[in-house]
Amino acid sequence: MILLDGKKTSADIKEEIALEVAELKKQDKKAPHLAAVIVGSDGASLTYVNAKVKACERVGFESSLIRLPKETTEEELLNEIAILNIDKDINGFIVQLPLPDHIDEQKILMAIDPEKDVDGFHPMNVGKLALNLPTFISATPFGILELLERYNIETSGKDVVVIGRSHIVGSPMSILLAQKRKVGNATVTLTHSRTKNLSEVTKKADIIIAALGIPEFLKGDMVKKGVVIIDVGITRVADSSKKNGFRLVGDVDFNEMSEKASHITPVPGGVGPMTIAMLLKNTLLALYRQEN
Ligand code: GUN
Repeated sequence: MILLDGKKTSADIKEEIALEVAELKKQDKKAPHLAAVIVGSDGASLTYVNAKVKACERVGFESSLIRLPKETTEEELLNEIAILNIDKDINGFIVQLPLPDHIDEQKILMAIDPEKDVDGFHPMNVGKLALNLPTFISATPFGILELLERYNIETSGKDVVVIGRSHIVGSPMSILLAQKRKVGNATVTLTHSRTKNLSEVTKKADIIIAALGIPEFLKGDMVKKGVVIIDVGITRVADSSKKNGFRLVGDVDFNEMSEKASHITPVPGGVGPMTIAMLLKNTLLALYRQEN
């Protein structure tokens, strides 16, 4: 069984990006600049955004963190976005989700200039993704494509089962893997909570992407021997034996699955660490596109 090591792969990608940025600077060119907007002070969101900003510094990007109070109105946030949209210094920016309840998330995402939407959440970019046109592929699906590619996992002609139809993972993943692209050309089945006889479907799969958000949902007896498992789930489960009182659990029963799978992403250390690397990759891509 081979572990698909997201931690190492993301470190490799960041190293490649850092070299590219160093080369730009050597030629007196501008380094990419990512901005992140966060509204309120939710602990998990702050940790996540800080990790993104820190990753920028490590690869030589410019970064800006814009912290707004939780009482910020929708109009004020839209104003902030309008400023970032026209700021020539900023190549890409993200608005960290979730937003407070009084702000309409969709309205905010639609206000971001699609050319700077390095999260790939704007409907224009989602539409381009569906049409296999140049776009920003959002970080989690992009990270999964990259992991499959770097571990030389053949997808062409394979039976892929995606579990979960979320807008940020299941849906784009199923679209991408069916497309004519380097990591693609698969026969994809998108399953969800209303799917009948899920085990019968998953047992036929060569590759399974589990992204439903139910800890240890996918068991060893639901898959065939040699399956490739991509586990997108990450849930905190109470664990009194741990110092912090919890452990992180994926959507896959890792112990059972390690007896069956040929390749599997661990949780933590699989898909998760890939996402920041892919956000950086999108920001670099944004810079190149804006220069042309
Ligand atoms: N919240 C959790 N993940 C993400 C992400 O990838 N982008 C944004 N903007 N917010 C998030």
